Formats: sequence, structure tokens, C-alpha cells
Amino acid sequence: MTGSPCLLVTGGAGFIGVNLVRRLLRETDALILNLDKLTYAGNLESLADLAGDPRHNFIHGDIADRELVRKLLTDHQPAGIFHLAAESHVDRSIEDAGDFLQTNVVGTYHLLQEALAYWKQLPAQQAATFRFIHVSTDEVYGSLGQDGFFTEESPARPNSPYSASKAASDHFVRAFHHTYGLPVVTTNCSNNYGPYQFPEKLIPLMLLNALDGKPLPVYGDGGNVRDWIHVEDHCAALMAVWRYGRVGQVYNIGAADERTNLDIVHQICAAVEREMPVAKNPRLAQKGIRNYTDLITYVPDRPGHDRRYAIDPSRVKAQTGWQPVMGFADGLRQTVRWYLDHPDWVEHVRSGTYQDWMKQNYGWRLEEKK
Ligand code: NAD
Ligand code: TYD
Repeated sequence: MTGSPCLLVTGGAGFIGVNLVRRLLRETDALILNLDKLTYAGNLESLADLAGDPRHNFIHGDIADRELVRKLLTDHQPAGIFHLAAESHVDRSIEDAGDFLQTNVVGTYHLLQEALAYWKQLPAQQAATFRFIHVSTDEVYGSLGQDGFFTEESPARPNSPYSASKAASDHFVRAFHHTYGLPVVTTNCSNNYGPYQFPEKLIPLMLLNALDGKPLPVYGDGGNVRDWIHVEDHCAALMAVWRYGRVGQVYNIGAADERTNLDIVHQICAAVEREMPVAKNPRLAQKGIRNYTDLITYVPDRPGHDRRYAIDPSRVKAQTGWQPVMGFADGLRQTVRWYLDHPDWVEHVRSGTYQDWMKQNYGWRLEEKK
């Protein structure tokens, strides 16, 4: 192959995908093929400033569309695939897991089939360096007690429909390596936070609700523990795994930053207070609220709510040299600042008009917002 390599990113209009596409453009000379179905979670406004970049090629489509995927692989000859496209929210999977089964399991299967057919006909040198990086979650391992960590040897014990669908996709990826030799690498990462996250997830939901003076809904007793990592650290790990990871390996990615949900919500309230003091926030004054923490509201627990996640990231560190660099306090401050500095993005996402924005700017047929 001559010229710059091409990389296919699926789900590149979602939270992690947007951050990964930006990083790949920044840190490599690759052409990025970004395949995304633009579900409610996909937002091209997050990539608006890349519209004129000849190295970013957005394709509106479904990973389960075999013909489309085949054509993309044949026409662009990517050197690797970062597979992020998924339905990703546990609460939605509890309401209805149909889309989770379709995209995370069936969609991944179709993508694997096309990747395999493509890889098999590559010349030996390109076949040897091709990688299918499957981006998954620590939630596939189920729930921990008070002690211990998830390692790559932990058994898959998914508890939510979301994690069940991701575990199923992990198994298919593993099987395509074991049976057909497809050069895959799977990553299982802990909870991400940072810019461009859809405000249905804990951190952006809480910080935007706080700014608006809306209740901060804590599930159950707030004692559930998640292991947090800044999205930039996750994306750096994905690139390290792509460059230095061993074929067929699984890598757990995490920043060893465990916190209860209640602790997170208190830290968000403190970070929001620093950036936008309650006394200067007219929405809070109107409601007579003097502290952001007054908005904390305990609500019924999520069914089947996993109690604790914690990652042992020793393998990815030892084998790729990756280290997380963003501490939680700095990462949270930066995240609060990002949401405050992007009021249009926030307003369009919260009102649903980001989909009108996409229609106006791209004129694509978009699904109904669910
Ligand atoms: P997200 O929900 O923000 O984005 C998912 C993207 O996939 C969206 O842009 C959506 O339009 C696209 N998509 C959905 N179905 C598709 C389909 N059939 N074809 C093409 N595109 C489709 O999710 P995220 O938080 O960015 O997560 C990305 C990946 O990382 C997922 O696979 C998720 O399981 C995994 N992961 C997420 C976290 C986290 O904390 N967010 C942690 C570990 C792993
Ligand atoms: P979430 O961001 O949905 O990620 P996940 O379920 O994939 O870990 O939730 C993170 C934690 O926060 C989880 O324990 C559920 C809890 N949570 C709340 O307490 N209230 C909320 O409104 C949300 C969205 C989550």
C-alpha cells in the first residue's frame, strides 16, 4: 500500500468515538473512515469542525449492512478497524434490549464476517499488520464484592441486558480469532467520562442537572462503586493496544480510580460550585436553592444494579507501556468547564434539535429519536 494508511472507526459519532477520531487525526497521518448509524447517541455536531478535513470521511450507515461494509473495505483498504459502534446505556437496555441484541451482537457478527473476508484476501504483509480492535466494557465481568479486581481471566458474568450483549460480542470476536485466525484484540474498559458524553450517563447528567437546578437522581443508596477513567486516557490506551497489543489478547483498561456514586455526585457539586457558584446562578436563585448538594435526590434503584466494578490494568501497562495521565479531580474540572463552554452543543442535545442540525447540515434520513 502507498500513501497514508486508512483506519475504519465504527461508532465514531458517539462519545468515545468522537474523542478517538480526533486523537487519530492528531497523532497519526491516517485517513479516517467513520461509519456511524447516527442513532440518538450519534452526534455529528461533535465533529462539525472536521467537516472540511480531507482526512475525515464520514459514512452514515449500519455495521450490519454487509454490502456497505464490504464496499467500504474494498474501496478504502483499511489497515485496521476500531469497532466502537454499540448501544451503550444500561437503563435503555433494561427498558428494551432489542437494539442491543441487533447492533452489539448481530451487527458485530456481520462486521466480523466482512472483516474476515477482507483480511483473507489481503497481501501477506498487510494481512500480518491488520488489526480488528474490539472495544468492550468491564461490565461483562459482572459485579465485585468489597475486595478484588477484574482481571482478563475473570469469567464473563454479565448481569444487565447491555453487558450480556457486549459479552456475547466479545465471545464472537474471540471465536473469529480462534477459529479463523482473524487478528483481533479486545479491550474491556471501565467507566469513561469527559467531553461529548451524552447526558444520559451519570457525570454529564448530574452536572447539567445541577446547573439547571434540577434534581440529581441517585439510584438506591448511592454506594455503588465505579472505576473511572478519562476518555482521553481510554483513547490513548486504544492506540497503544493497536500499536503494541498482542493478537488474540484481551486487555483490561482502567485508571484505578474507584468511587461511590454518591462521592462522584458530591465532587460534581463542588466542581460546579467552583466554575459557576450557586449565588451567581440565576436558575438556582429563582428556586431558592443555596447549595448544589440540596438537589441530591434518592430514587429507586436500577434493577439488577451491579455493586462494584474495579479493573486491574497491569497487563495493558506491561505489554503496551500505556499509563493513564489524567487525575480525577482535574478531569472532572475540565469536563465541567467543557460543558459550560459548549452551551449550544448542550442545548441542541438536551432539546433534541441536534438531529435537526444534522438534517439541515447533511440532509440525511435520520431515525426518529427514541
Ligand atoms: P455511545 O452510545 O456514545 O456511541 C455509540 C455510537 O455508535 C453512536 O454514535 C451510535 O450512533 C453508533 N451506533 C449505534 N448503533 C450502530 C450501528 N448499528 N451501526 C453503526 N453505528 C452505530 O457509546 P460510547 O460511550 O462512545 O461507547 C463506545 C463503545 O465503547 C461501545 O462499544 C461501548 O460498549 C464501549 N465502552 C463504553 C464505555 C463508557 O463508559 N462509555 C466504557 C467501556 C466501553
Ligand atoms: P451510568 O453512567 O449509566 O454507567 P454504567 O451503568 O454503565 O456504569 O451509571 C453509572 C453509575 O451511576 C451506575 O452505578 C448507576 C448510577 N446512576 C445514578 O445513580 N443515577 C443516574 O441518573 C444515572 C444515569 C446513573
